[in-house]
Amino acid sequence: MENIQTIVVDSKEQGAEKICELVQKELEAGHLHVLGLATGSTMEPVYEKMTESDLDFTNVIAFNLDEYIGIPATHKNSYAYYMNELLFSKKPFKETHIENGMAEDLDAECVRYETLLKENPLDIQFLGIGENGHIAFNEPGTSPESVTHVVELTESTIAVNSQYFTEDETMPVTALTMGISSIMQAKKLIVAAFGEKKRPALEKLFEGVVTTEWPVTYLLDHPDVIVITDLKL
Ligand code: F6R
Repeated sequence: MENIQTIVVDSKEQGAEKICELVQKELEAGHLHVLGLATGSTMEPVYEKMTESDLDFTNVIAFNLDEYIGIPATHKNSYAYYMNELLFSKKPFKETHIENGMAEDLDAECVRYETLLKENPLDIQFLGIGENGHIAFNEPGTSPESVTHVVELTESTIAVNSQYFTEDETMPVTALTMGISSIMQAKKLIVAAFGEKKRPALEKLFEGVVTTEWPVTYLLDHPDVIVITDLKL
């Protein structure tokens, strides 16, 4: 798999450092103008390292992968809130974008977001992987042709992500997400997967067969993927 470079690290902290180094290299080379960001626990140490670093994003436009439907940016579990807390309030960017999960017309919101992505092609896209192999909120069965769209989250994703919601909060079961084709258009994909729970998904990727049942395997068709993991496969 010449298109996939795997970097094995000892810990997620070391993985986060590695990601910062890769980003720094691209910034210094003048290759990073548009950066696609992800949320979730995998990315927390990455944003921590980034905020501690000298990396300068003032000329970089950021796009996030996904957002829940029906919770506002002020809700502590929205991805807009996560990004502000962990990164944007500490590191200024030229512009930041995330889908509006409160939009009245969600289909129009998807079109708006996808148009913005087309106007600002992604240089790098960060990706985490769901335990069920999802990338962004593209759950098993998602078409490779998909662009930004509305999704119903699977039982697996709801079970994993409900840990962030308290008992009196209802977790959204729908979201807006960049599609597989929106993601695949990025020039470079940096994929982070830490911990045993991600082993089945990474094993599927390295089996080398593209299947809609494991959206992560779509990455096999991308020309430039870097996988950073603490798993020895
Ligand atoms: C987040 C996202 C998701 C996560 C994935 C892994 O924006 O798009 O695909 O990357 O669910 O989540 P964590 O990192 O919490 O294991």
